[in-house]
Amino acid sequence: MTQTLLRGRLLSFVSEPQSLTDSESYRYETDGGLLMDNGVIVESGPYAEVKAKAAADAVEIDHRPHLIMPGFIDMHLHFPQMQVIASYAANLLEWLNTYTFPEECRFVESAHAQRIATHFYDELIRHGTTTAVAYCSVHKTSADAFFAEAMRRNMRMIGGKVMMDRNAPQGLLDTPQMGYDETREIIAEWHGKGRNHVAITPRFAITSTPAQMEATQALAREFPDLHIQTHLSENHDEIKFTCELYPDAIDYTDIYARYGLLGDKTLFGHCIHLSEREADAMSEAGAIAVHCPTSNLFLGSGLFPLKALMRRDKPVRIGVATDIGGGSSYSMLRTMDEAYKIQQLLGERLNPLESYYLMTLGNAQSLSLSDRIGTLDKGTDADVVILNAAATPAMALKMEVVKTLPEELFLLQTMGDDRAIVETYVAGVAAKAVL
Ligand code: GUN
Ligand code: ZN
Repeated sequence: MTQTLLRGRLLSFVSEPQSLTDSESYRYETDGGLLMDNGVIVESGPYAEVKAKAAADAVEIDHRPHLIMPGFIDMHLHFPQMQVIASYAANLLEWLNTYTFPEECRFVESAHAQRIATHFYDELIRHGTTTAVAYCSVHKTSADAFFAEAMRRNMRMIGGKVMMDRNAPQGLLDTPQMGYDETREIIAEWHGKGRNHVAITPRFAITSTPAQMEATQALAREFPDLHIQTHLSENHDEIKFTCELYPDAIDYTDIYARYGLLGDKTLFGHCIHLSEREADAMSEAGAIAVHCPTSNLFLGSGLFPLKALMRRDKPVRIGVATDIGGGSSYSMLRTMDEAYKIQQLLGERLNPLESYYLMTLGNAQSLSLSDRIGTLDKGTDADVVILNAAATPAMALKMEVVKTLPEELFLLQTMGDDRAIVETYVAGVAAKAVL
């Protein structure tokens, strides 16, 4: 295959930044080269050195003065909720019952699921996201459309058919047996095909009976390498209703723990209102709390104590995500802007190095996938985003007075969106240009 050589400013993280001046936590190459071949990064470093190792016929693309970073990772969003965005509701449960559940019923139709899947990947690519962890609907058709389109685009995606057997419209319910059987079929058909990963996906405890939670536990035992995704502690009314449904559990987190779902591959969306006991339990299990700031603000769910969870004696592992369609933007830049503001309201600071770490290497580590994504290391997947901090007239004006890399990153996060994404390379191929 012909090699592609990108030239620009390379930025990637090697560890979690401890402060705004922690230059050990990242690699920054002001005149960098990234050589990609057959979907993989084969060289990365100073341009002159990488150029010397490139094949004579390598195609060279000059992205100077832009930043070259690992593609963004979105740890939690809902593929069938593209047309739910901007639904006017007072709170989570009203939003689910009034807009979200009726909309997801439409995904029983393959043609609809396929159409939305096309738009879904277009939006991810437009916004510089190269890997995402998604909920499909309860229907197998939705998972088939989701994975088929990911394969067509050669994207590394994680997703699962939602399992839900109560407290929702009839058209959105499976049964414990059906949820189990269909999840197994989806694993057999899609897991490891192309770059696809299947996740075991009980929606949340409100929509699963104890019998379905047992079926989920059986799947988790049979497929211990798979991710598990669900929702936890998002909204006060949700927490109260959940605990009423499982009166024997100590708290919301304990419900999942009782069914063997609290482990280091489990991604819990939201986790806003955890008790100290729950945070300890999450920490001990190595489970991941996935912060969805635009959603939390939009639905009025609460202020996620990101920094407080990170600096506990027993820290909780963190992911960051858009949560489309409770979330209001596909952009991880917009997402981290809102994450920053939430910490401001809590009297905490989220510095821009931490934000970019979280969207790339941090999320990759939380997925146990940092050997493949979230870095620009040799041998990893060539999923890359090109960022322009002067993408709009207002950004360009501000950029005139920006002096440091953290200042530039902060500008991109505060003012940037899909217009700041110059290009998105998926497995070494420019994918935004062809949209
Ligand atoms: N809890 C259960 N389902 C959902 C969902 O679709 N979105 C959000 N934000 N929370 C949920
Ligand atoms: Zn969600």
